[in-house]
Amino acid sequence: MYLSKLKLKNFRNYKELKLKLSPNINIFIGDNAQGKTNILESIYVLALTKSPRFGADNNLIRYDCEGGTVSGVIKDSKKMKELSVSLAKATKKVSINGKNISKISDYIFNMKVIMFGPEDLDIIKGSPQDRRNFMNVQISQLYEPYVHYLNEYNKILKNRNEYLKLMNLNQYTDPRYLEILDEKMIDRAVAIYKYRNEYFQFIASRISSIFKKIVGEDCLEIKLENNLDLLTYEEEEIRKKFSKKLKANRKKEILQGTTLYGPHRDDFCFFLKENNMKIFASQGQQRMAIICFKMAEIEIFNEILHTTPILLLDDIFSELDVKKRNQLVRYLPENVQVIVTTTDLKNISRKLVEKGRVFIVKNGNVEEKAG
Ligand SMILES: Nc1ncnc2c1ncn2[C@@H]1O[C@H](COP(=O)(O)OP(=O)(O)OP(=O)(O)O)[C@@H](O)[C@H]1O
Ligand SMILES: [Mg+2]
Repeated sequence: MYLSKLKLKNFRNYKELKLKLSPNINIFIGDNAQGKTNILESIYVLALTKSPRFGADNNLIRYDCEGGTVSGVIKDSKKMKELSVSLAKATKKVSINGKNISKISDYIFNMKVIMFGPEDLDIIKGSPQDRRNFMNVQISQLYEPYVHYLNEYNKILKNRNEYLKLMNLNQYTDPRYLEILDEKMIDRAVAIYKYRNEYFQFIASRISSIFKKIVGEDCLEIKLENNLDLLTYEEEEIRKKFSKKLKANRKKEILQGTTLYGPHRDDFCFFLKENNMKIFASQGQQRMAIICFKMAEIEIFNEILHTTPILLLDDIFSELDVKKRNQLVRYLPENVQVIVTTTDLKNISRKLVEKGRVFIVKNGNVEEKAG
């Protein structure tokens, strides 16, 4: 899949921008603060309707403007779709081929992106919440039903937390109602774990060999962790253990007025030679582990959806040593669209520059470099 055209209106520092992109390599070069990351961010927003920068959704509209738009044309095995995301202060509207789509969850399955950027280290160093957000976005792009189950789960969770608070205040409550909510929550958890488990199994089966190829070291592992003592993610196991956990901790949950167990508390960890990378790994190792994680993801998109995601590489080469830079470029699949930013072409391997289209970014304007 690739993005053939991108159009911005009042997005970040772009008043108006129209671009035609190459299906292969696109390089955006410019000094700091000119709008390179903003272009990648806009493409991410076009795919997923939100910013990859945590909490940045309210800042996407150009200063002093009421609203902004990102639109674009994506092509996938000869099929073409025109996507558009309109942002206003309090609302967001999305459309496909000019037709409004009322539910965001019905929109986000159309365009696949994987972003590599400076914030990636948060995937290891950040909070479990950061990791869950990341994992949910990734899995939503791969399995269409996932986001529906997740939304349902979160609604039930909210109700359940409110009910626990009422019970704590000794308001008139009925324990049977809590049990009904438990059942519903467990049902959705079974579905959520089906996808989470499949996703992590897949990543786990690839990441070590990719790490070996790019970094030359063995033994990178990744593990999904839950607080339900699950030994497997089989339906029966989830039902049994989740229900047991809720029953055993009923008093504690009422006292705290919140749901303490379940997939909303999941986390995942990277291990290098069995050591937790959050604690033991160097910044460079952490960065490479995440890059390899995302390279493994490209393969999942291929395998499950028979398409390639659009790769957004935000200035990632400048932090890698030359050897790893070249290994990484060698490892990029031939048929993927890559959109990369840099302050200096020297940071990008010659192979990419030769194949790529180069765009110069200057103060919210973009021009293609001649020749
Ligand atoms: N909502 C907004 N409206 C107008 N301008 C904005 C808005 N948000 C950010 N900017 C401007 O966009 C510019 C930053 O753009 P961006 O982050 O894309 O820079 P960059 O080219 O990636 O720089 P660097 O090389 O430092 O990463 C800044 O000048 C900032 O003031
Ligand atoms: Mg930037």
